[in-house]
Amino acid sequence: MMTLTNQNILVETDDQIGIVKLNRPKVLNALNHELMDELVTALEAFDRNDSIRVIILTGSERAFAAGADIKEMSDETTVSIMLKDRFATWDRIRNIKKPIIAAVSGFALGGGCELVMNCDIIVASETAQFGQPEINIGVIPGAGGTQRLTRVIGKHKAMELILTGRPITAAEAHALGLVNKVAPVELYFDAAKELAREIAKKSPIAVRLAKEAVLKTFDTSISEGLQFERKNFYMLFASEDQKEGMRAFLEKRPASFTGR
Ligand code: CAA
Repeated sequence: MMTLTNQNILVETDDQIGIVKLNRPKVLNALNHELMDELVTALEAFDRNDSIRVIILTGSERAFAAGADIKEMSDETTVSIMLKDRFATWDRIRNIKKPIIAAVSGFALGGGCELVMNCDIIVASETAQFGQPEINIGVIPGAGGTQRLTRVIGKHKAMELILTGRPITAAEAHALGLVNKVAPVELYFDAAKELAREIAKKSPIAVRLAKEAVLKTFDTSISEGLQFERKNFYMLFASEDQKEGMRAFLEKRPASFTGR
């Protein structure tokens, strides 16, 4: 296990899993510019690193992240905030090709909830709470909340969360399909790791094209999406992993995928 320390995040690897831990405990991991820059740099480094197959993004037991840093934002004007283009880093997160599992405990509010929704699979502790409280401070979600939450939980529940600012529990989030799995607080990170290990055994190239095809759903019509999926399916027949996977099945042995 290797540990690298930034100012606002901790980065480590565990075998083929890259782990990023948000680490501004005094402000409940509020997402300031510096943290977001470090985060996207770490994610992109894992994305380029062939020995990493899955990424886990997590916070502390008390807070995944309590949102964008309100102190940093409070004196912005329309022009200053636009020129800083604070959401450009978020577009880079959206472009990460490897699967990202969010392991969430405590607060996942505002930008914290939006960051969770940028991930691909969400494991929560029983103490996790999710919400878009921006309305309480006179703004609205700005990092995708109105779009992603609505697509995940539907218009009426998304409206309720975004217009009231009221958070929901992990159990409610699970019932709404926002969260894949809820585990006791001592176990949620291990549950995320277990999922990561399972996915890490698959063909990384197939995992990559599968993620790309699923995400395409949010950007396109069903017929274009089906076309896109089909092309990715055909493309995998150029990979050694397809040959190995199918041969291993026929030879009744486990496949060993190399990502080629
Ligand atoms: N930004 C900056 N600082 C924050 C913060 C945030 N989003 N959330 C918490 N903090 C700070 C608090 O100011 C406090 O600092 P001090 O000790 O210096 O006073 C420290 O973290 C601990 O917080 P609390 O004392 O408030 O802890 P609590 O347990 O009483 O309450 C909480 C926890 C309910 C999460 C509360 O902190 C809270 O409501 N936070 C703000 C949540 C929010 O509005 N998030 C949305 C931000 S806007 C956004 O995210 C826009 C976007 O779409 C990108």
